[in-house]
Amino acid sequence: MQERNAQDAERFRLLVESVKDYAIFLLDVDGRVSSWNVGAERIKGYRADEIIGQHFSRFYPPETAGRCAEELEIAAREGRFEDEGWRVRKHGSRFWANAIISRILGRDGNLVGFAKVTRDLTHRRALDEERIARAALEQSLAEQKKIDELREQLIGIVGHDLRSPLSSVVVGAELMLKRGMLHDADAKVTARIARSAERMAKIISQLLDFTRSRLGGGMRVEPRETDLAEICAQVIAEVETVHPDRALSFEADSDVRGVWDRERLAQVVSNLVGNAIAHGKADGAVSVVLRDEGDSVTLFVHNEGPAIPAEVLPAIFEPFHRQARRTSRNNDGLGLGLFICRELVAAHGGEISVQSTDGAGTTFTVRLPRTA
Ligand SMILES: Nc1ncnc2c1ncn2[C@@H]1O[C@H](COP(=O)(O)OP(=O)(O)OP(=O)(O)O)[C@@H](O)[C@H]1O
Ligand SMILES: [Mg+2]
Repeated sequence: MQERNAQDAERFRLLVESVKDYAIFLLDVDGRVSSWNVGAERIKGYRADEIIGQHFSRFYPPETAGRCAEELEIAAREGRFEDEGWRVRKHGSRFWANAIISRILGRDGNLVGFAKVTRDLTHRRALDEERIARAALEQSLAEQKKIDELREQLIGIVGHDLRSPLSSVVVGAELMLKRGMLHDADAKVTARIARSAERMAKIISQLLDFTRSRLGGGMRVEPRETDLAEICAQVIAEVETVHPDRALSFEADSDVRGVWDRERLAQVVSNLVGNAIAHGKADGAVSVVLRDEGDSVTLFVHNEGPAIPAEVLPAIFEPFHRQARRTSRNNDGLGLGLFICRELVAAHGGEISVQSTDGAGTTFTVRLPRTA
């Protein structure tokens, strides 16, 4: 009977020793390795003669080596301890392991050591991580799609549902003013209603332009044969009716035509001239000049006044960048005008720049290739 047991034990030892996929080894009560199998050699890199007698804490990375004693304590007390974590091979590389430590009791119930079974799960962990990363990516794409849809909806609401009632307000107020039937006080209020509604309409279209260009992949332009002199003359005439007290001059070379989007360039000129009026010297002159440069046309918009502060200048074309209200007159804008100018000029293949000094005032320069 005893011989049978001894034979079984020997077979069992051989079986364990030949297992390749699991590191199976024994620890004495203090945690020193007392047996070693093929799997342990394969996974951990040590030969039996190198490791037997060594403490098992050397399989752990420095940051978790301190936990070894606790793991043995738990296994001794509860019979078993299971854990997943990083382990270190002989040559220093790490692998992700599942490890089970089981208590071994002698015939009299005394603790005689531990059996430890370790599996290398690095590959599985990498697959898990890949799966998690893929799921996260898919989720964020789905969320992005939802955000895109919401944004389109919002643009639709702001663009159409807000703009049309607002234009009724402007048209209505202007009609009442034109009829001339209002008392002075009422005419003032009505004029204020019209101005406020116009300002709202301007802010709405700026926000739409901003959203389209920032989030929708750039400004769209529809270039056609256009005369920039005509555009400038029209914008200046409009500005003059609003600011009859301001001195505006305009000069153009004879051929300043190109293939551009008329409406969009009018917007650029209007923004720049509007800025010159609003942010330049209060009673200073504003000049607009167009130069024929062969393949391109250059627009200069100049105003008098102190230099734009050096800290403002580098970011002046960035969205929502404006001087604080207290330092700039008439500043009820969003700070989107120059950003939109830059985007529109870029959509025409051109460039915009600014020069500003205390002596010479401020000049915005737009160079537009005749065909984008
Ligand atoms: N010609 C100028 N002279 C001096 N400062 C200027 C001039 N043009 C622009 N700035 C400064 O640059 C800032 C940004 O101009 P931008 O046109 O982008 O915005 P805004 O005029 O404040 O508002 P809006 O969105 O209505 O145009 C202005 O607030 C102003 O401080
Ligand atoms: Mg502006």
